[in-house]
Amino acid sequence: MRSDANIAGPMTDPVPGPRTESFGEDVSRETPPPMDDTPIGRAAQLAVEALGRAGEGLPRPEQTRVIVVANQKGGVGKTTTTVNLAASLALHGGRVLVVDLDPQGNASTALGIDHHAEVPSIYDVLVDSRPLAEVVQPVPDVEGLFCAPATIDLAGAEIELVSLVARESRLQRAIQAYEQPLDYILIDCPPSLGLLTVNAMVAGAEVLIPIQCEYYALEGLGQLLRNVDLVRGHLNPALHVSTILLTMYDGRTRLASQVAEEVRTHFVEEVLRTSIPRSVRISEAPSYGQTVLTYDPGSSGALSYLEAARELALRGVGVSYDATHAHIGAQNNPNMVEGIQ
Ligand SMILES: Nc1ncnc2c1ncn2[C@@H]1O[C@H](COP(=O)(O)OP(=O)(O)OP(=O)(O)O)[C@@H](O)[C@H]1O
Ligand SMILES: [Mg+2]
Repeated sequence: MRSDANIAGPMTDPVPGPRTESFGEDVSRETPPPMDDTPIGRAAQLAVEALGRAGEGLPRPEQTRVIVVANQKGGVGKTTTTVNLAASLALHGGRVLVVDLDPQGNASTALGIDHHAEVPSIYDVLVDSRPLAEVVQPVPDVEGLFCAPATIDLAGAEIELVSLVARESRLQRAIQAYEQPLDYILIDCPPSLGLLTVNAMVAGAEVLIPIQCEYYALEGLGQLLRNVDLVRGHLNPALHVSTILLTMYDGRTRLASQVAEEVRTHFVEEVLRTSIPRSVRISEAPSYGQTVLTYDPGSSGALSYLEAARELALRGVGVSYDATHAHIGAQNNPNMVEGIQ
């Protein structure tokens, strides 16, 4: 296991120092660190505890785990989760590939990967059967992390794929032919359930659904789950929803805890105990072409992703997770906000 992570400097300092993460637009950067008796304070404290464990390394999966990060709802944290979980898994010692399957190319941008129109990309892999190895680039600053970028070409791929042979399994074939050893492949899907997302679902066994803790969180989830069932029935018997991650959790609002509770009630096994707080640091990092893990390694956003990655990795090898490090626990709250539609 690697302990030479690029964040070694800050990781050795157990105290986040004067850093003052704000969790909402109305909170200034200069706000003093929150007290431990607030939800954010607790989250930060638990994150600091996680810090000491981040460099420990984690058990590697026996086979490459291919994880499809999907939710056809836009802006729920798919890309943010893909890149930050991937970086966390790499910092924990894994070899990780991010496949950017969204024409917006946000994951490529966030990882600091060049993806202008001429760059060999996942479009060439899907449409022209170019080997995946020819488009994969190492991510600067994070050892063990790689990216297959998306360019604007991918916007036409949904239509171009329709007339191609084995249109649903082109990504699967490319991944199977990729010979580099990998522990994880994370696929960042676009906010739709078209052929690109279907390609991801045929290529991977696991679906990870990020859910934003807000009022309409569960709307449309039924459609996503039906698609997973359809793909499992016809194209990929191994496909299942393995993981749900609560994102942009704002502990100050009652609504967020109600939504979290409802999701945990519906998906008892799948929801990670760790949730991701709303964090300005997380949203700032992509504009610097970085994940939050390198942009601000000691921030609670970074540490919550490290902890979520730890939980994901331990679950994959059947080791139970030490819940004392989860940022929010299950709370019994009878007030449901809305059901799955
Ligand atoms: N935990 C967080 N705290 C604060 N901002 C966040 C957090 N997670 C994501 N964001 C911000 O929310 C916005 C949407 O996130 P993201 O791009 O990851 O969602 P997405 O599901 O990939 O969107 P799309 O459906 O367009 O692909 C981005 O501006 C991102 O920076
Ligand atoms: Mg996205």
